[in-house]
Amino acid sequence: MSQGPSGAVANDQKVCPGASWSKCEAVERPTAIKDLARVVVVTGVSSGIGHAIAKELIGKKFHVFGSVRKETDAQRLRDQFVEYFTPLLFDVTDEVAVQKAAAEVRSHMKEHTLLGLVNNAGIHVGLDATADLPLAKLRKQLEVNLVAQMSVIQAFLPLLGTDLTLNGKPGRILNNTSIYGSYTLPFMTAYAASKAALNALSEGLHCELKPFGIPVIVIAPGPIKTEIWEGAVQNAQCIGHHNSPFDPFVQYSHKVARALTEQPGWFLPASAVGRKVCKVLTKRSPALHYVITPNWCFNWFGPVCGPKRVVNAVVTRIFGLHKTLKRGKAQTGSSVHTD
Ligand SMILES: NC(=O)c1ccc[n+]([C@@H]2O[C@H](COP(=O)([O-])OP(=O)(O)OC[C@H]3O[C@@H](n4cnc5c(N)ncnc54)[C@H](OP(=O)(O)O)[C@@H]3O)[C@@H](O)[C@H]2O)c1
Repeated sequence: MSQGPSGAVANDQKVCPGASWSKCEAVERPTAIKDLARVVVVTGVSSGIGHAIAKELIGKKFHVFGSVRKETDAQRLRDQFVEYFTPLLFDVTDEVAVQKAAAEVRSHMKEHTLLGLVNNAGIHVGLDATADLPLAKLRKQLEVNLVAQMSVIQAFLPLLGTDLTLNGKPGRILNNTSIYGSYTLPFMTAYAASKAALNALSEGLHCELKPFGIPVIVIAPGPIKTEIWEGAVQNAQCIGHHNSPFDPFVQYSHKVARALTEQPGWFLPASAVGRKVCKVLTKRSPALHYVITPNWCFNWFGPVCGPKRVVNAVVTRIFGLHKTLKRGKAQTGSSVHTD
């Protein structure tokens, strides 16, 4: 597949190598936006929540410019969504590619503003002990989930309405953070830090963009059934790699995570976030923060509204961290977690 000067996937014959000519023609029609007032940019649409958001929006006849990193994903989604979808091929950490993608979208918008930008692309670098977390992993977590989000926002801000010469209403920025941006569980601190920082950035930006009429809205999902969680366990650094005193605790936390996630009703489907995003993009007066989670009391109300001391006591007990280790004696996993 060839890439346009902007990083968007070009509509030329090479877009689907190996496919039949007639299929190529079907998926390579030039981007024809039917209604310029209903155009949304969504990052990370190849899977999970981003894909569900794109699907929901396209089902309601919005035009989606969706970012992917692989040419095969671009082609797959063009096949699936056809004329309401235009893939943008970029990694959110590649500033040049992000800027080029913004220029490409602008070239389609005929001096009209975007309806919205949904910053969804994100990663979870793993369920690790914070003390053992390689700094490279922490940097990567913050680079993708925080710095790159800002890069995308900066690139698309003119199209959302800081360019006052454009026609149309100002657009909205929706940042997909997490309930774990509002409180932190042990062994997922890097992820929580990235999401808490994105919350902070969103809140400040919301005020700064008020004169331009561009709302910045936090979408904070709880556990959603996607591949990110399997990745979080697989990416974990410590187990079996070295003899860390934290290993038994991390192993136990993985068991807890598995037990929790195997409970029926622990996850919501990604479509729940898709539906909410669709509503928030068109709601007349959107709130600043939306929580979409199963088990509202356990996942949100208790940890966020409960007294910190009590919450901390419950969390440390759940994760087997409530007993102080004895000094001067070698610890083993089984002696650490006896109940
Ligand atoms: N699942 C949950 O429980 C949950 C809860 C709260 C918040 N969230 C947030 O929701 C967002 C989506 O996660 P998900 O659960 O749907 O996981 P997912 O299925 O793994 O989707 C992640 C998406 O982000 C893209 N992505 C990752 N790194 C990227 C990069 N450097 N540049 C461009 N795109 C990149 C991925 O593209 P590739 O396919 O190319 O890797 C993929 O499209 C994340 O920000 C996550 O933190 C998830």
